[in-house]
Amino acid sequence: MSKLAPQILRFDSLPSTNLEAARRAVDGAPEGVCVVAAEQTAGRGRHQRQWISPKDAGLFFSIILRPQFEQSDWPLLTLMTAIAVHDALLEVCSLETDIKWPNDILVNEKKLCGILAETVETSLGRAVVVGIGINLTSKSFAPDLNGVVSSVEAATGKIPDAEVLLEALARVLMTHYQRLQHRGGPEVIVGEWSTRSSYATGKRIQVSEDNEHFSGVTRGLEPDGGLRVETNDGEIKVVRAGDVTLVRPAG
Ligand code: BTN
Repeated sequence: MSKLAPQILRFDSLPSTNLEAARRAVDGAPEGVCVVAAEQTAGRGRHQRQWISPKDAGLFFSIILRPQFEQSDWPLLTLMTAIAVHDALLEVCSLETDIKWPNDILVNEKKLCGILAETVETSLGRAVVVGIGINLTSKSFAPDLNGVVSSVEAATGKIPDAEVLLEALARVLMTHYQRLQHRGGPEVIVGEWSTRSSYATGKRIQVSEDNEHFSGVTRGLEPDGGLRVETNDGEIKVVRAGDVTLVRPAG
């Protein structure tokens, strides 16, 4: 498999890097094109939430992928992206992070980065835009979110060089993407995600999936990235689209 080099397009301001990357994918942009903006005026989060993106306060990044493997394995793209963010933050900021299933990056149980993968129909086939928002400074979120959200600055006392982090992230992401596509790649990605996440096994969590809510203990990942949860009556349920929250021990 030939090495895929990322091509980075930089903007001062965009409504959303995911939107711009999707537009370019529809126009035929190749895999590996990355869109980065200093600010977003209509940043998007999961579940139609807003992603606040003030100028230079975060890394707002999207990449176009055109995966050729089974679509049932595409959820692994977000796990792979979480691994890449984890590794880039460790390399550039010496910051050890945790991954909450499927792809929130945490420090001290506070969210530092979110990932939003969206599929887009293009003349070259269905593509995926993977968007990453990393809080670099404490200006990247409202002060009232202090208890649940963090930033690299808050966690390390230093504001990282966004350009250095961007270069590392794009490089590490492409490396993991290529590994995912090799024979046995899905097992490798599931294994690597599990070594970086305290949520993989033995974590007591609450799950909200559609209208269903239950709690249980995590029991590893399915080959497609679904999270196995053992409920209080011993049943194993597999979560594929729900929201997961930590259940804190009483006291
Ligand atoms: C989440 O809700 O956790 C996902 C947030 C994803 C935010 C990023 S910022 C760059 C890219 N562009 C967007 O509009 N959203 C993603």
